[in-house]
Amino acid sequence: MTTDPPKPPTGLRRNLASYGDPGFSLFLRMAFIKAAGFSDDALDRPIVGITDTFSDYNPCHGNVPALIEAVKRGVMLAGGLPMAFPTISIHESFSNPTSMFLRNLMAMDTEEMIRAQPMDAVVLIGGCDKTVPAQLMAAASADVPAIQLITGPMLVGYHRGEMLGACTDCRRLWGQHRAGAIDEDEIEVVSGRLAPTIGTCMVMGTASTMACLAEALGMALPGTGSIPATHADPIRAAEASGRRAVALAAGGPRPSDLLTKAAFHNAQVVLQAIGGSTNGLVHLAAIARRRGLRIDLDAFDRIGREVPVLLDLKPTGANYMEHFHWAGGMPRLLGELRDHLVLDAPTVAGPTIGEIATGAGDFPEGGVIRTRDKPLRQGGGMAVLRGNLAPHGAVIKHAAASPALLTHAGPALVFDSVEDLVTRIDDPDLPVTADSVLVLRNAGPKGAPGMPEAGYLPIPKRLARAGVTDMVRISDARMSGTAFGTIVLHVAPESAVGGPLGLVRDGDTIRLDVPGRRIELLVDEDELERRRAEWRPPHHLGEPSRGYRGLYLRSVLQADEGCDFDFC
Ligand code: FES
Ligand code: MG
Repeated sequence: MTTDPPKPPTGLRRNLASYGDPGFSLFLRMAFIKAAGFSDDALDRPIVGITDTFSDYNPCHGNVPALIEAVKRGVMLAGGLPMAFPTISIHESFSNPTSMFLRNLMAMDTEEMIRAQPMDAVVLIGGCDKTVPAQLMAAASADVPAIQLITGPMLVGYHRGEMLGACTDCRRLWGQHRAGAIDEDEIEVVSGRLAPTIGTCMVMGTASTMACLAEALGMALPGTGSIPATHADPIRAAEASGRRAVALAAGGPRPSDLLTKAAFHNAQVVLQAIGGSTNGLVHLAAIARRRGLRIDLDAFDRIGREVPVLLDLKPTGANYMEHFHWAGGMPRLLGELRDHLVLDAPTVAGPTIGEIATGAGDFPEGGVIRTRDKPLRQGGGMAVLRGNLAPHGAVIKHAAASPALLTHAGPALVFDSVEDLVTRIDDPDLPVTADSVLVLRNAGPKGAPGMPEAGYLPIPKRLARAGVTDMVRISDARMSGTAFGTIVLHVAPESAVGGPLGLVRDGDTIRLDVPGRRIELLVDEDELERRRAEWRPPHHLGEPSRGYRGLYLRSVLQADEGCDFDFC
């Protein structure tokens, strides 16, 4: 006769070691939860945690209360017990010094709350740029079965008959305002139309990129990442995610089953094909590192040489997320990318990526999602550059750059910090021409700190007024995924830890060769050695620092390693 092995405890009976007396631990736990009015029947069911990332500071998460209600409904319909719990919420515009500075804090908060509280599965509700990466990093480490639920993009706005979206058009119109083409009154009107609803930025910025990558990694239900936040469909997607989470609670798959080499390959293919945000690469590296995997930048570049850009969305193309959604969203895009994907990669939904790509449904050909024989652009969205200026790599979104500047040599004009840039960029006597290469340093993970989105250096006012719309710009900073220009980012190692960007002087020739994947400082090695001996790190790195800032400055890794903490 055989007996079944004892089932591992679920629900409130999990993790009972706290008091050394498991019986007493459970007794206390039950006593306290009963204060909330639960019945014994409810408390014996599998528990699905739900992250509550609503915040008055975060309009990108404005629909979170409605989504939580729907996830709860889905969980209960499937026989589970939903338990919502708060975590940090991060909005791009209200996170000082930068949202990137706080991403790892949110990842730690989320991971530890998943670990600490009894739950058999978790639904992670995120949307704004740093929240989804933080949640996926947390899920990768906590390894409790998890589904990512995306809040969804805003609807588009209109101004003078033109469609507008946050925030590619924010930058374009602000540029026109700086150049004198849009006056004070009109720019005021525009500010009320760029973000007309709750939800995330509706161009292919970092939020949309991470929503697509969550699906590509197999961590979100197919087609749910692009649904506009204000529609009824995200509510239904939330209910479905809750239902599915109960199934996951009974036996997975877990993040460790899903976040494999194959999943990260698929995510890199998608990142190239959507013309995604450069930030997506940093976040992908951080999530992979949580599973002991490394994103090889040169492999990512090779993927980019083979995979075309298929999405016609701003800033690379012309449309917005709602158009992508109604053209079939990620399942349809995956269908076009079949030849490049690892098709047997599993997903949280059950079917493999290949099965999702096959079952995309019937949508008209072309339009927002191009077919592979008529791509928006041959070769992917991003390239990885190397050279004596970026020994550990740098990134350029060449799909959103000026073709004429992709091969360029010009004299450097160096800004020593973000503050220096702000002080001098509009100085009428700035020694700058359209051929100059603008360099910003001490804006990396440790240098700023927090690697701000300062890599989109503004065109000096004098040149903007003369009609210059793009210049070569290089920094160790990041840039918003919504921005356009010939902009080299994430130079690693950053100048603040001794990277060669710190050795550039005004007037040095810098050569950018994107087709050859090179970024070179044309100064001989003896001279660089002499400058290296004189180099000093920025002041703040020599001072004692406390609290989270101290932890961050001591522990943050470089861009090529995802800017996670070294101990995570
Ligand atoms: Fe939240 Fe753009 S500010 S997605
Ligand atoms: Mg952004």
